[in-house]
Amino acid sequence: MIQETHIEGALKELFANLKFTQEPAGLYDPLRYMMEIGGKRIRPRLCLTAYSLFRDGFTQEILSPASALEVFHSFTLIHDDIMDKADVRRGVPTVYRKWDENTAILSGDVMSIESYKLVAKAPAAVLPQVLELFSQTAAEVCEGQQYDMDFEDMEQVPMADYMKMIGLKTAVLIACAAKMGAIIGGASEKECDLLYRFGYDLGLAFQIADDWLDTYGDEKVFGKAIGGDIVNNKKSWLLTRALEKAGDRREALLLAMDMPVGTEDGKAAKVAAVKEIYDALGIGEEAQQEIVRLHGQALDSAKALNLGPQKYELLHNYAAKLLGRTK
Ligand code: IPE
Ligand code: IPE
Ligand code: MG
Ligand code: MG
Ligand code: MG
Repeated sequence: MIQETHIEGALKELFANLKFTQEPAGLYDPLRYMMEIGGKRIRPRLCLTAYSLFRDGFTQEILSPASALEVFHSFTLIHDDIMDKADVRRGVPTVYRKWDENTAILSGDVMSIESYKLVAKAPAAVLPQVLELFSQTAAEVCEGQQYDMDFEDMEQVPMADYMKMIGLKTAVLIACAAKMGAIIGGASEKECDLLYRFGYDLGLAFQIADDWLDTYGDEKVFGKAIGGDIVNNKKSWLLTRALEKAGDRREALLLAMDMPVGTEDGKAAKVAAVKEIYDALGIGEEAQQEIVRLHGQALDSAKALNLGPQKYELLHNYAAKLLGRTK
């Protein structure tokens, strides 16, 4: 049976060998930049983990589709940083800041196409199913990103709408990673569905943790500027929950949300004001409880797979790493 160390080794090798040598540099340099800085690679790792529940040893038929998930994800980050006006990612300047917006748009576009070329290397027998899953997921990520933007301009959104939004923008790609690994590994439909659920619930927890880190994280470790969500009135889990339970602090919270952010001092003052209200309401702790709840729900799906203790442990350890995220 494949061990975690095999998966780590395969991932390392995979990304060391993934070379994009095309020209012109103006189009492909940002792609190379994003892939070389490298993120946590949780999506390809999950894809390989799910696959290894059903098959021993990795071939290009799984490695290429697994890398496609990372290339697609990195593309969404390039566009997301324009949309969120974010200057730093993975500890370095974002693509649109290092180059410009036009470069970020077109390099992002070509990355999304590169991701399809890699997915297309899935085994012919399952290719239609894999492409359908990937395309459906890609469209859903766009839908989630649109809701995310729409919500910035709304005073308040119901928690159920927030959950649906993060389900689309974040959870479906993690769910897709798990299911794609299972499909290519030859799992049954029921196993594919359970792994999808596992990834989906973990993805929800992952995004709520991301929202928590955006306010409470350590900028150096997180690799992104702290407070960006507050500055943008992003309907993060924290803000959505705070608006829900603000009570007599509602006016203060709405005033804080309206604070001017034209200067660095203005931004810092707004972040401090909103954070003070979060702290008074105990929002950070509640977010942590919700993360733990969803993590437990994901593990229920992993248990329902009934694959025996060793295979369960692979999924359990993967989930534990996500739960402990600081970046
Ligand atoms: C960031 O994803 C976007 C979210 C869905 C929260 P990651 O946290 O996986 O980013 P990298 O790839 O490790 O930089
Ligand atoms: C990102 O959500 C989701 C996608 C990129 C699709 P965020 O906007 O919270 O991600 P970060 O915090 O910028 O990484
Ligand atoms: Mg965003
Ligand atoms: Mg963002
Ligand atoms: Mg975020």
